Amino acid sequence: MTLRSRHLLGIEGLDRSEILTILGQARTFREVLDRAIPIVPALRGRTVVNLFFEASTRTSTSFNLAASRLSCQCVNFSKATSSVSKGETLLDTARNIEAMGVDGIIIRHPAAGAPHFLARNVKAFVVNAGDGAHEHPTQALLDAFTLREKLGDLEGKRILIVGDIAHSRVARSNLLCFTKLGAKVAVCGPPTMIPPYVEDYGCEVFYRLDRILGEVDVVNMLRVQQERITASSFPTVREYRALYGLTAARLRKLAPEVVITHPGPVNWGVEMDFDVADFSQTLILPQVTNGVAVRMAVLFLLAGGEHPEG
Ligand code: CP
Repeated sequence: MTLRSRHLLGIEGLDRSEILTILGQARTFREVLDRAIPIVPALRGRTVVNLFFEASTRTSTSFNLAASRLSCQCVNFSKATSSVSKGETLLDTARNIEAMGVDGIIIRHPAAGAPHFLARNVKAFVVNAGDGAHEHPTQALLDAFTLREKLGDLEGKRILIVGDIAHSRVARSNLLCFTKLGAKVAVCGPPTMIPPYVEDYGCEVFYRLDRILGEVDVVNMLRVQQERITASSFPTVREYRALYGLTAARLRKLAPEVVITHPGPVNWGVEMDFDVADFSQTLILPQVTNGVAVRMAVLFLLAGGEHPEG
């Protein structure tokens, strides 16, 4: 099982069979994570670096753990304590770290395209852990893995992505991933948060949540990306919650089998009420657990590891 590229830069560059290859490999590693000693020697002797220029809890910890579970060393780089604060460039930073002997670079950066730039300029394999408002491919893969675990094949499943579509790298990657897996995807949010090109991705667009909420199998809520919003995209948080929030009242009206996801971190009381956390169909923490297995699969396939049991 191989991928065509030696990098994972986005879902855009993957075809359906490559997505299924990663998800299939992740299934094997998900079982490893349930063992008493959840470690395999698949990438023994390899080293990756977590090169994060933006804050992260889930993705950075998850890649760190994924590497450890594969017996791969992971070095963590933090922008705040690095020589970036003295003006060192991204390329110099990456090349200096690479010169110390790393096989792979996992990068999160506020600039869209930063992972693609690195991939053209370093020898190590590059994984995009989120680039600006562009893509977050491992989030999409772990979301697809979690939904398939709950619902089976996504072919024909109706998935609604709700919220700040325009500023969300998760929205773009999930749209691409879910449609490649055959799901019928719709997006819903304020007109100011829906980019005009979104229908080119093969999805329907709704501006009234209550119009579409009763017709879907999955509600994929998004975080309002306060840090990327430059102009006021909605009048008040109170109005956003009233029109687009997954409130306790909306939750009570949902069919019991509807599944709810959120990539985190959640702005409780904005896009989602805290009551949703306790709903049995809310998969926020299973998403996080599965993220380790999915990132193990990505590292394993890109680093060309030995068979995990071997
Ligand atoms: N979902 C996600 O990317 O979370 P972090 O920003 O904490 O990594």
